[in-house]
Amino acid sequence: MSVSIKSPAEITLMRESCRLISEVFAELEKMVEPGITTKDIDREGERLIREKGCIPNFLNYNGYPASICVSVNDEVVHGIPNKHRKLKEGDIVSLDGGLIYRGYHSDMARTVPVGYIASDARKLIDVTKQAFFEGIKMAKPGNHLYDISEAIDDYVTPFGYGIVKDLVGHGIGTRLHEDPQIPNFKQKKRGIRLEPGMTLAIEPMINMGGWEVVWLDDDWTVVTQDGSLSAHYENTILITEGDPEILTLKM
Ligand code: MF3
Ligand code: CO
Repeated sequence: MSVSIKSPAEITLMRESCRLISEVFAELEKMVEPGITTKDIDREGERLIREKGCIPNFLNYNGYPASICVSVNDEVVHGIPNKHRKLKEGDIVSLDGGLIYRGYHSDMARTVPVGYIASDARKLIDVTKQAFFEGIKMAKPGNHLYDISEAIDDYVTPFGYGIVKDLVGHGIGTRLHEDPQIPNFKQKKRGIRLEPGMTLAIEPMINMGGWEVVWLDDDWTVVTQDGSLSAHYENTILITEGDPEILTLKM
């Protein structure tokens, strides 16, 4: 395993890549309402990414056929946009996307309500987001990678939710997925030491029911085994000498 440390020049490019995808997400989140299709979101996402002169990094990644992963309700991640799949009031929809700016990748995800949603679905979305923030409280030099994993687990588990184990966060830079892998649940060891210049995508995926997931026959869509709702929240962050910088939060 080798974890890259980004130079100041690379960090500038990572910041810009992440700023641009967060601008795209601001637009996509506004689009979400009953009646639009998951394909509408993907099409607009790809258009916005290319309009900024960037490349959608998910498109054709291991054969994935779209620019934005759109996952509805019990779909955890990697839902394939479909022009026949209309969102309806009460759904929750997870959007996951990234882009390449001058060779540097960004990656982020949000779960968004479609119109008015049930209070238990709202709570799942809020806890998943807070899990990310609990995790990155540990994201500083002197701490170790799996301190992040443990903080997420310690926060989420008391709610009785299932933490997805089959998919993890990751390093990011000149490739979408770099070392290290970042689990969202407790590990037996503390993992590598965190160092300034590491850029990491931290992405809790949380199920209302059990943690188990299954893959659909399309070989992409991951769904909860028990059919319960699932939420996702991801940012690309930079480890600094002090507090981490969240690169995909639009200022
Ligand atoms: N969003 C995934 C991640 O956060 C990567 C998706 S790859 C794709 O790491 F092929 F599904 F697009
Ligand atoms: Co990611």
